[in-house]
Amino acid sequence: MRRKLFAANWKMNLGPAQARELIRAVRAQLDPQSGSLLKDREVMIAPPAILIPAVQQELAGASIALGAQNMYFEEQGAFTGEISAAMLKAYGVTHVILGHSERRHIFGEDDVLINKKVKAALRHELTPVLCVGETLAQRDGGETTRILTTQLLAGLGELDAAQVSKVVIAYEPVWAIGTGKNATPDQAQREHGALRGTLVERAGRDVAHSVRILYGGSVTAENVDSLMSKPDIDGALVGGASLKADSFVRIVRALTV
Ligand code: PGA
Repeated sequence: MRRKLFAANWKMNLGPAQARELIRAVRAQLDPQSGSLLKDREVMIAPPAILIPAVQQELAGASIALGAQNMYFEEQGAFTGEISAAMLKAYGVTHVILGHSERRHIFGEDDVLINKKVKAALRHELTPVLCVGETLAQRDGGETTRILTTQLLAGLGELDAAQVSKVVIAYEPVWAIGTGKNATPDQAQREHGALRGTLVERAGRDVAHSVRILYGGSVTAENVDSLMSKPDIDGALVGGASLKADSFVRIVRALTV
C-alpha cells in the first residue's frame, strides 16, 4: 500500500509574512485532522529556499514535511548561489524536488546533473522527488514514452534497488504546468503505468510497486479527485493551487482509492 503524497511547490512566490500566513491557514484546517486524514497520506510543502527557515518555524509540531525546490550536489565550496543537502537538512528539510521541468528547460539542467543531485540527496537521507515530463512537441511527435523512460532511467542512474525504493517520481507533462490544461486522468494513468513498468524492469516488482508516482500539472481542487481515482497515481505535486490555503487543503483531502 503506497501512502499518497500531496506536495506543494510554491516556486518563486510569496514573501516571509505571506508564507507564514499561508502555513498558519493550512494548519488551521489540517491540524485538527492530522490523526485521521493524515494517517493514509503525507503532505509536503516546498517554499523558495530563502523562506525555508520561516516555514520551518511555522511548521513546528505539524504533521507536514518541509521540502526544497532544488539543491546542488557538491558538499561545499566555490559554488556561488547554490545550496547543499547538508544546509537544507540543518533547517529540517526532508524532501527535495529535483529535475523540475523549469530547472530543465529554463536553467538547462540535464539528466547527468539531475542524477548527481538525486545521489547527493540520498547520501544525505533526503527524499528526492524526481520530476520527469514531455513537452507538447515531444508528445505531438509520439516521443512521450521514450522521453519519460530516458529521463527516469538517467535520473536514477546507477542507484541500486534499495536506493530506488527511496525515490519519489513526479510525472509532470510540461504542457500541463501552469497552463490550466491538466492531463486527463486516463492520459496520466497511461504514463504512470508505463513509468511503473519501467521501474519493474529496472528495480524489480516489489520496489516498483512501493515507489510513489505523483502527478503534477494544473492540479486543482476540482480535478484532484478524478486524478486520484487512478491506480498508479499516488499523489500530486501542486504549483499554482498550493498558494491558497483553501485549494491546497482541498487537494490534500482528495478522495483516494
Ligand atoms: P502547476 O505547477 O500546478 O502550477 O501547474 C505544477 C508544478 O510545476 O510542479
